[in-house]
Amino acid sequence: MTSLYQLHQFATEVLTDHGIEDASLEAEVLLLDFFGYTRTAYILNLQTEVQSKDLRRIKGWLKKRARRIPLAYISRKAYFMDHLYDVRPGVLIPRPETEGLIEVFEEKCKTYSPDVIFDIGCGSGILAIEAALRYPGAKVYAWDISRKAIATTLQNKVRHQVPNLEVLNRDFFSDRKRWASILSKASVPIILTNPPYIPDEHIALLQDEVRLYEPKRALKGGSDGLIFYRALIKGFIGFGCVVICEIGIDQKPPLSQFLDYKGLSEYEFIADIHGIPRILVINFRNLMQ
Ligand SMILES: C[S@@+](CC[C@H](N)C(=O)[O-])C[C@H]1O[C@@H](n2cnc3c(N)ncnc32)[C@H](O)[C@@H]1O
Repeated sequence: MTSLYQLHQFATEVLTDHGIEDASLEAEVLLLDFFGYTRTAYILNLQTEVQSKDLRRIKGWLKKRARRIPLAYISRKAYFMDHLYDVRPGVLIPRPETEGLIEVFEEKCKTYSPDVIFDIGCGSGILAIEAALRYPGAKVYAWDISRKAIATTLQNKVRHQVPNLEVLNRDFFSDRKRWASILSKASVPIILTNPPYIPDEHIALLQDEVRLYEPKRALKGGSDGLIFYRALIKGFIGFGCVVICEIGIDQKPPLSQFLDYKGLSEYEFIADIHGIPRILVINFRNLMQ
């Protein structure tokens, strides 16, 4: 007989042997995910016997985790803004820091009441869905170049029941006419995006979980990491939108330089709890042609 407590000890040993940091915590999170327990239920069940079929599956999960496969790709789920999302390999795993975008979005919506919200590079759909849940009266568009991302966003659309969301497999760069047509008909468009922003050369330096398993297309932002921002800024200038985007940890200086060079002054960087600027907000409302 193996109790949940013994299984936790075993899982911790396996993960430690494979060099996983915080192995005890990782083991606990893996078991919480597997059984769908809250932490309290987990503690209350520590002496419960684990069924042999569960034991076999958990050992399978541990083998995968030992190979550095991120837990979200094993359990196929992730939490964002306290909501559960489906995730699958090939689609970026939602990050806690991206929640800041939703907080800023809520704040900006006190001033600008959007009728159109556009999530470019939607991944699992977290930003578009959180925005659609908050603004049921707005039309929300989620675009991604990746078919897996689109399939996952559609799955999450069903999970969270957001009828005001349209999900499309599109390339931001080559489908300019389509997004331009949507934005030109909008009164108050808000762009909410977490684009790929890692400089191509830095990908090799990322931790194994990200480097080996997360989709490169979701990460690579060109030689300096700024390819999407430059295109977003140049592309959206004439559409009177408010752009809220996540940025990399050291991207404030080059982005300010670019915005200044484009003659734009209505922008702000918002820092995270560590004081690192991670969000850029650009207001194009006063530049409408
Ligand atoms: C950093 S991920 C963000 C995913 C999701 N929004 C999130 O925050 O978890 C960037 C996303 O942009 C998508 N992407 C990359 N190039 C694109 C393009 N040219 N057009 C549309 N989407 C693109 C990727 O497939 C990926 O899903």
